[in-house]
Amino acid sequence: MIKWTPALSVGVEKIDEQHRELIVRIHALVKSIHESRCRTTIAGMIEFLQEYVIHHFEDEQELMRANDYPELPAHIRQHEEFLKSIDNLRKDLDRLMTEGGSSYELSVATNQVVVEWIMAHIANIDRKFGEYMKTRG
Ligand SMILES: [Fe+2]
Ligand SMILES: [Fe+2]
Repeated sequence: MIKWTPALSVGVEKIDEQHRELIVRIHALVKSIHESRCRTTIAGMIEFLQEYVIHHFEDEQELMRANDYPELPAHIRQHEEFLKSIDNLRKDLDRLMTEGGSSYELSVATNQVVVEWIMAHIANIDRKFGEYMKTRG
């Protein structure tokens, strides 16, 4: 079970709210893979997640920009890398499904690419921004 906990709180309500939604969508994707849903369903879930990730990254970066966050360039690079990984995951899904790969493989990839990354990013990198915001009062 992937869920949002107060330990993941950045302290900025809008961002925390979006992280909760992000985690809901990731959970739905992981669940559909575990239930070995058809490729179209899983692809749809990835797209649904991707869409929200893009929206969230834009809002987050905008807030950082508005608050002169010095670590913004490095943060943007992290976001871009993740967008690339999620795109690769979509390609992997296509390959796996056409070659008759197992959903287990896909599940492992999703866990590494999406779940672990997002959790670590929120807990460490996004929370750093929250700390910065606190110093600005
Ligand atoms: Fe971020
Ligand atoms: Fe974030």
